[in-house]
Amino acid sequence: MGALWHGFADMGAVERDGAFVVARGEGAYIYDRAGTRYLDATAGLWFTNVGHGRAEIADAVAAQLRTVAHYSNFGDFAEPATQELAEKLASIAPVPGSKIFFTSGGSDSVDTAAKFARRYWHELGRPDKTIVIGRQRAYHGMHVAGTALAGIPVNREGYGELMPDARTVEWDDAKALLALIEEIGAERIAAFFCEPIIGAGGIYLPPDGYLTEVRRICRDHDILFVVDEVVTGFGRIGGSWFAATRFELEPDLMTTAKGLTSGYVPMGAVFIAAHIAEPFFRGGVWWRHGYTYGGHAGAAAAALANLAIVEREGLLDEAKRLESTLHTKLAALADHPRVAEVRSGLGAVAAIQLVDPSEGLPLVKTLREHGISGRAAGQGAMQISPPFVMTDDQVDELVEGFNRALG
Ligand SMILES: Cc1ncc(COP(=O)(O)O)c(C=O)c1O
Repeated sequence: MGALWHGFADMGAVERDGAFVVARGEGAYIYDRAGTRYLDATAGLWFTNVGHGRAEIADAVAAQLRTVAHYSNFGDFAEPATQELAEKLASIAPVPGSKIFFTSGGSDSVDTAAKFARRYWHELGRPDKTIVIGRQRAYHGMHVAGTALAGIPVNREGYGELMPDARTVEWDDAKALLALIEEIGAERIAAFFCEPIIGAGGIYLPPDGYLTEVRRICRDHDILFVVDEVVTGFGRIGGSWFAATRFELEPDLMTTAKGLTSGYVPMGAVFIAAHIAEPFFRGGVWWRHGYTYGGHAGAAAAALANLAIVEREGLLDEAKRLESTLHTKLAALADHPRVAEVRSGLGAVAAIQLVDPSEGLPLVKTLREHGISGRAAGQGAMQISPPFVMTDDQVDELVEGFNRALG
């Protein structure tokens, strides 16, 4: 019996069956303690974009920690690596001139955006704009705001009311958003949160035109448009740094984490469009918000090294290659009697949707027997979100492993 309490787990089952211990990683593979190799179908929890075992990132972090690990970025404090990273992020932001607020991860980023949206309207003399809207099936992390505005009811069960001013709307229907705005009144709504591709809720691609349409609706109604790119950001959308760039969404706020450091160390960032940030930069306004480890210098060094790898190795294009490879090579799995459909064709992301959702967790274990480390999301959707360095041959290996595991 170990002391470690796992996230999102039935701990009784973990104690009974034991943990799957990942001891090492290299490229698109991970290894258990016995040295058995597994192809990483998910890049951990959607983050190891540059692949495992990059000494370059470890060296950059070590050098930074030897210089100064971290101090603070409250008040007027800053570290050079953090400043450099903020400039780098502003230079690739979907909205030029964006301001960058650092966090410790995706849930922090969402919480920051939810608080910021309300505080922004307060600053503009419209304190009644407090309601935040999310979508059914959406996942926005596990802090209180993100849990409340996400669309996965089981994640909200047993806590009482988390946040009264959170509403949920159909995930795929822009008209439903319009109807909800008309019902509540735009004068009470602070922000709409939107994952470009619904990720942890089961990997659902946006219907054609949906993102552009909801973006327009928000603009027309003076509602902040928050794009949650914790999964899609930093290249996973394929061909672009962000889905907001690919779809020209011009978000007011953009939440990120994961691919920022490829998960080598924890870090998140919220991108705030210049015109939204402006009231806070006039002088005399304190935003009383921040995290001890926001802008951590060691994490900033990791992020800079990680982004340099993405650029040097053309990994945005590799993610685009994976978009089409996954779409082509996974298609045949849809004919398997245990598979309802395969969702793919946008970004280095896909779902193999099982007919019987209860088969998801057992299949994760069977996949391991066939050399694949996988994960079930939503209702029996097998998550495919490989490191961008996964080759087309390795995708063949992935498909072969799924075929054998499905039987
Ligand atoms: C879209 C989205 N937002 C927020 C989060 C929360 O990020 P974290 O787990 O780093 O707090 C996640 C995590 O998977 C996510 O997928």
